[in-house]
Amino acid sequence: MSTVLQEQVREWKHRRNAVILAHNYQVPEIQDVADFVGDSLGLSYKARETAADVILFCGVHFMAETAKIINPGKTVLLPDLEAGCSLANSCDASALAEWKAKHSGVVVVSYINSTAAVKALSDIICTSGNAVKVVRSIPADKQILFCPDENLGQWVMEQTGRKMLLWPGVCHIHVKFTHESITRLRQQHPAAKIVAHPECLPIVRAMADEVCSTEKMIAYCRQSAATEFIIVTESGMLHRLRKEIPGKTFIAGPTDTCSCNECEYMKKNTLEKCVAALEHLAPEITVPEDVRRRALIPIERMLALGQ
Ligand code: 13P
Repeated sequence: MSTVLQEQVREWKHRRNAVILAHNYQVPEIQDVADFVGDSLGLSYKARETAADVILFCGVHFMAETAKIINPGKTVLLPDLEAGCSLANSCDASALAEWKAKHSGVVVVSYINSTAAVKALSDIICTSGNAVKVVRSIPADKQILFCPDENLGQWVMEQTGRKMLLWPGVCHIHVKFTHESITRLRQQHPAAKIVAHPECLPIVRAMADEVCSTEKMIAYCRQSAATEFIIVTESGMLHRLRKEIPGKTFIAGPTDTCSCNECEYMKKNTLEKCVAALEHLAPEITVPEDVRRRALIPIERMLALGQ
């Protein structure tokens, strides 16, 4: 059943000819009014193909920024400009530029969880959904710097057998899961499959039956013969899993101090802020045109590889 606020969001969306794109970690009531809910990769494709005039991006800043880079002519709104990302913050463009100046010829593969300025310095972008494919697309004789998530980079190295230099960045949420916290839960649910995001620490990933992007978690849990799953990622993910696969049980991966794990940035967006953003066409995402043009090239290279 729709709430009054959800109805207001829909009304303003209609008036603005807007599309609402939401990440899998958004609060349930936002996911339920979105036109598309998905992972970073799916959202990038949706941002590229939309015919709407306005994109209300319910996610974090780098996601909305990516949508703007792809769609310079559209108005891109983020309900709360404070919705940031610890990974994007962990790689400063000037530090990357300095690093590049000392390591000529190295191919820079940047995770989409990075600023527009970092993307502008990168050769190709990847998401957790296609990082293995992106790295495999790079000629074997090239050295790669993978930035800024060292845990995702480590996992890609394991999958591809390719040595890479790793930028020392982490997602402050995914590194909160520990071997102990997941072991305790597994003891209570011995038949449950463990599904973990590749941003988790290697010791946690090693416990998982499946390591994948948030979108692939839906497909894995749907096709698996198992009926119980421990989901080791931001707990917003459980809403879609429960909604789309109602016959199965999904348990949030705990940390040492909490039974679930929420990203405070992802949770900054609320329905009230969505209504206000559509009404006032603000906060709007802007990217300086020279940065946007340079950042678009590695994004397009990624999108050209297909989903
Ligand atoms: P996905 O692309 O797998 O949804 O990951 C997004 C993210 O930011 C994880 O922290």
